[in-house]
Amino acid sequence: MMAGLRFHFCFLVLCASLIIPTQCLGDICLPEEHVALFIFGDSLFDAGNNNYINTTTDFQANIWPYGETFFKYPTGRFSDGRVIPDFIAEYAKLPLIPPYLHPGYPRYTDGANFASGGAGALVKTRRGFVIDLHTQLSYFKKVDTLLKRKIGEAQAKKLLSKAIYLFSIGNNDYFAPFLTNTSVLQSYSHEEYVDMVIGNVTTVIEEIHRKGGRKFGFVSLGPLGLVPITKAFTPENREELTALITRHNKAFSHALQILASQLKGFKYSYTNLYSFITERMNNPLKYGFKEGMMACCGTGPYRGISSCGGKKSVKEYELCGNASEYVFFDAVHPTERANQQLAKLFWNGNLDVTWPYNLKALLEQK
Ligand SMILES: *[C@@H]1O[C@H](CO)[C@@H](O)[C@H](O)[C@H]1NC(C)=O
Ligand SMILES: *[C@@H]1O[C@H](CO)[C@@H](O)[C@H](O)[C@H]1NC(C)=O
Ligand SMILES: *[C@@H]1O[C@H](CO)[C@@H](O)[C@H](O)[C@H]1NC(C)=O
Ligand SMILES: *[C@@H]1O[C@H](CO)[C@@H](O)[C@H](O)[C@H]1NC(C)=O
Repeated sequence: MMAGLRFHFCFLVLCASLIIPTQCLGDICLPEEHVALFIFGDSLFDAGNNNYINTTTDFQANIWPYGETFFKYPTGRFSDGRVIPDFIAEYAKLPLIPPYLHPGYPRYTDGANFASGGAGALVKTRRGFVIDLHTQLSYFKKVDTLLKRKIGEAQAKKLLSKAIYLFSIGNNDYFAPFLTNTSVLQSYSHEEYVDMVIGNVTTVIEEIHRKGGRKFGFVSLGPLGLVPITKAFTPENREELTALITRHNKAFSHALQILASQLKGFKYSYTNLYSFITERMNNPLKYGFKEGMMACCGTGPYRGISSCGGKKSVKEYELCGNASEYVFFDAVHPTERANQQLAKLFWNGNLDVTWPYNLKALLEQK
């Protein structure tokens, strides 16, 4: 029985490698080395999901000049061009992964992008305006069900276990209260609040692991106390925001080490987005930028009033001549050029920026 199975398996592999290096299931053929990318999180990763939800222009980027550099039209990405997962998809030899909510997008064998601008790990962060992380998880579970139906239980399981799960989450759980209602924070100590945010991210990671996910990639929170919007809008909150972000980043990297020791087969890559951005803000020329502090698109000091596109409460805005010379495209979000630099480090950077694996090494892990 065992020998028979083994022979059958080898025979198939031999056949596949001799004739066509792909594996076909029904009408779907996948290369042997095929890896899917499942993307969770906030505006750093959103490829346009918020185009399809009932929200406000505060949480949408489907207006010009968003997209001007690469796509030449606004796609819903919060940048002048591609976002970090777009580059990761390219390096992994995948097509761009479209937003999950894009109507009629069926090719889940490449993965799916569930990220939503403005979203946090806490359901209450901007509830009603964004797709929170738990809802993103419920969408992932739907995809899992569809995949099993389409390519069968065993193949779906294999696809999920080889896949990479990318996360940028937590920024808005800290940011939103400082932009709207700081009394949300006052019912918790910093420690309690950070534990709550990380607890919610951890729950989602564990659920994905239970579904068969093994390889995870995370970016740390960004320097929200230093971005143009904070300098222009709420400079008095700068220190407290920075203290919270720093505490979160430290606690999260610790939480990942614990998960790696508890969850079977769990492997991860973690990139320090915080120091990546601050280094470029402070030394733009060293990294090929001309301007590190001021945004390309916006109004007021540092162009930090969030008005890019003119569809929010402030209608007037300035737009720089060449976004690639800037670290920030709008009051919060990096330019495509900064995203590309970060994606490169995430993909194959050294251990001082991306650890304990970079994404490329993670992908090659058995
Ligand atoms: C969208 O939200 C607005 C304001 O919250 C509400 O009035 C409207 O009914 C919502 N539309 C849909 C389709 O849910
Ligand atoms: C601010 O948040 C607090 C605590 O969650 C809540 O009680 C209060 O109603 C909120 N205020 C506004 C203006 O939303
Ligand atoms: C997740 O967040 C909610 C508040 O939104 C909190 O009540 C709950 O304890 C958190 N879960 C964990 C595991 O920390
Ligand atoms: C924009 O700036 C980048 C980076 O300095 C440069 O490579 C590119 O040629 C510039 N584009 C134009 C149209 O000037």
